[in-house]
Amino acid sequence: MKTIFSGIQPSGTITLGNYIGALKQFVELQNEYNCYFCIVDQHAITVPQDKLELRKNIRSLAALYIAVGIDPEKATLFIQSEVPAHAQAGWMMQCISYIGELERMTQFKDKSAGKDAVSAALLTYPPLMVADILLYNTDLVPVGEDQKQHIELTRDLAERFNKKYNDIFTIPDVRIPKVGARIMSLQEPTKKMSKSDPNTKASIRLLDDLKQIEKKIKSAVTDSEGIVKYDKENKPGVSNLLSIYSIFSGKEIREIEKMYEGKGYGDFKADLAQVVINEIQPIQEKYTELMQSSELDEILDRGAEKAQAVANKMLKKMENAMGLGRKRR
Ligand code: TYM
Repeated sequence: MKTIFSGIQPSGTITLGNYIGALKQFVELQNEYNCYFCIVDQHAITVPQDKLELRKNIRSLAALYIAVGIDPEKATLFIQSEVPAHAQAGWMMQCISYIGELERMTQFKDKSAGKDAVSAALLTYPPLMVADILLYNTDLVPVGEDQKQHIELTRDLAERFNKKYNDIFTIPDVRIPKVGARIMSLQEPTKKMSKSDPNTKASIRLLDDLKQIEKKIKSAVTDSEGIVKYDKENKPGVSNLLSIYSIFSGKEIREIEKMYEGKGYGDFKADLAQVVINEIQPIQEKYTELMQSSELDEILDRGAEKAQAVANKMLKKMENAMGLGRKRR
């Protein structure tokens, strides 16, 4: 069985973008791959976090992973900071990264733009992500489009390490969904839907009240044409809503366009709200159940233990390759 690794930051409540770009793929892939799914809390602290909120978000994300359909019997679910090998390997990856290549990362540019105080870790965030992936002999990394550049860096650093020290790393491939790789903001459809967007109307959260979801969809920015048609360039708002509709209904975009021929955006949005709610409601029910049980801690304990056993082996190989510490038998 080939191996998958992917992670999500507990930096806010999961959006429909995270669900479509990442979680939905994870659920589909868990039967065919040996999967590691991580709650990357160390990545989350590269920008300021309230400690109580962070703890709450970590737990909530763990419950959401399971509520959307990740089976902890099949996949290993764990918290990054509970497996210290990640930070240790991340340091080694920093040591073989160049400042220039890290400064070129578009996420770094976006997150640091216009800020007076930018943490050093925001720049060195990608080498930690590289370590996350390489520790598990990962073959495939399912992510949304915004992470593609980080996976390319992962391949570059793995190759660099293999060449310079010892050929120990598998070179992973990226897997990006065909539809929904980049779900856009409902208010500014040329911008990505993001967990950290302060405009609450811009993103649908998996834990939003269902009535609120309906309202957000109804007030999504479209255009004045009144024609339900996919045209990313000229109709980014409608195109984004069409992608979401298609993913959740299983219908082709063209089929949906036909269904709304001669109808306005009102009908289209009302039906889309229902389609989204039908998908999210059972997730919320399962989530509530999980948050009230002690199952979650047991799953995360087992996950950390399993992940550690694998990660520590690779960490030892890395240390030996670089000549760190003493040689041990
Ligand atoms: P994060 O937490 O920002 O996002 C988690 C996942 O959701 C995807 N995503 C989207 N997909 C479609 N449309 C959107 N609007 C959208 N917004 C987010 C992301 O592409 C991602 O797959 N650096 C990563 C976390 C990470 C990681 C890793 C991922 C750390 N280590 C190792 C993979 C492997 C991040 O910030 O994701």
